[in-house]
Amino acid sequence: MFKISFTTSGESHGKGLVGIIEGIPANLEISEAYINSHLSRRQKGYGRGGRMKIESDSVEILSGIRWGRTLGSPIALLIRNRDWINWEKGMSPDAAHRDSIEPVTRPRPGHADLPGIIKYKQSDIRNILERSSARETAMRVALGSIARRFLEDFRIFIGSFVTSLGGIELAIDTSGLDEDTLTNLHKKAEGSELRCPDQEVTERMKKLIDRAKEEGYSLGGRFVTFATGLPPGLGSHIQWNRRLDARLAYAFMGIQAIKAVEIGDGVAISGKPGFEVLDEILPPQKGKTLLNARRTTNHAGGIEGGMTNSMPVIVKATMKPIPTQRKPLRSFDIKTGQPVEAAYERSDVCAIAAASVIGEAAMALTLTDAFLEKFGGDSMEEVQRNYLSYMEAGG
Ligand SMILES: Cc1cc2nc3c(=O)[nH]c(=O)nc-3n(C[C@H](O)[C@H](O)[C@H](O)COP(=O)(O)O)c2cc1C
Repeated sequence: MFKISFTTSGESHGKGLVGIIEGIPANLEISEAYINSHLSRRQKGYGRGGRMKIESDSVEILSGIRWGRTLGSPIALLIRNRDWINWEKGMSPDAAHRDSIEPVTRPRPGHADLPGIIKYKQSDIRNILERSSARETAMRVALGSIARRFLEDFRIFIGSFVTSLGGIELAIDTSGLDEDTLTNLHKKAEGSELRCPDQEVTERMKKLIDRAKEEGYSLGGRFVTFATGLPPGLGSHIQWNRRLDARLAYAFMGIQAIKAVEIGDGVAISGKPGFEVLDEILPPQKGKTLLNARRTTNHAGGIEGGMTNSMPVIVKATMKPIPTQRKPLRSFDIKTGQPVEAAYERSDVCAIAAASVIGEAAMALTLTDAFLEKFGGDSMEEVQRNYLSYMEAGG
C-alpha cells in the first residue's frame, strides 16, 4: 500500500475487532449504516456455521469521521464480538483467569495451529487459532467498505459472484462480459444464498453442502470479483511492486484459505495461441481522446503492463475446503505426543459466499490505494479536480 495504510487487531473470541485506516481524504460522506450493510453481506451464505447465527456484526466509528464526513485523519473502527460474554474469562487479558479453560492441544491440519505454536512458543493452540481465524475478515470488510464508498464517488463499482463450489461449476467466460453484464451477474448473486448468479446451479451447490454437512466434510470453491468504471493508468509498469496485478494478487492471497489468484483469463491462457487471448485495440472515435480507445474482448482482465486499461478489472480467486471438519483427521496431541483426531470447533462447511464479499473489500482497498497514488489529494474536492483534469485532457 502506498497511499493508504490499514491494520486490524482482535481475536476471534476476544472483546472485539479494531481497525485503523489512514490516507482517506477529507469530506467523504460515510455512515455506520453503510458499513453495516456490507458487514451483513459477509455474514450470509448457505453452509455457514453456528457463529453467523450468534453474531450480527455492527460497527462503531471511534475516530476520523465527524457529522457523516471523513476528516482526513486516521479512521478507527470497532466491531464488538457479541459472543464475548461467554469468553470473558477464557480470553481475559488478566493473569488472574489463566487456566480458566482447557488448552487446545490437538493441531488441525490446514490451520496455523502447528506452525504457529512452534513459531510463537505456545503450549495452548488457542493462542494461535484465535487470531488466525477468518473472524478478522469482518474488519477487513468494514475498512474495505470505506474504500468502496470512496470509489463510488468516481462511479467505480465493485461486485462479485461465485462460479464454483466443491467441483460444481458455473461456466462463465469473463473475457466477453461488458460492464452491464458483470453488474447484472452481481445483482443476481445478491439474490442467491451462495452468491451464485444461476438459480439451478445454486440449488445443486446447496444439495452438495447438505451432503457434506451430513457426512462431516468441508468444501471450497471459486469466485469472480470485478471492478467497473475504472480510468486507464491505475498501477504502473515502472516497478514490480507498483504493478496493479501484483498488488491485487497480494491483497487476495492475504485472505484466509485463498490458494490461487488469477487476473482475467488466468490459468486458462496457458494452452492457447496468442491471437485467441490478446485483446485487440480499436481506435477512439474521431475527436475523442486516447481514453476512448476500445476493446472487443477482455482476456487480460482489464490490466496490461501492471496498469488498468479501462476495461473491467477481473480477479478470480480459489478457496480451499474449510480445514476444520467433523470427519476425523489425523493429528497428534502436543502434550502427550500420541496420535489423536484433530480438534473440532463449530465451523463452516463452506464459506465461499463470504469469501467473495471479502474479495470485494480486497479489491476496493487496492484500487483506492492505486487511485490515490494517481489522483491523490487531501480532500475529496482536490481528488475530484485531479481526476477530472486527467479525464478531460485524455491523460
Ligand atoms: C470467510 C471465511 C470463513 C472461514 N471459516 C472457517 C471456519 O469456520 N473453520 C475453519 O476451520 N476455517 C475457516 N476458514 C479458513 C481458515 O481461516 C484458514 O484456512 C486458516 O486460517 C488457515 O489459513 P490458510 O488456509 O490460508 O493456510 C474461513 C475462511 C474464510 C475466508
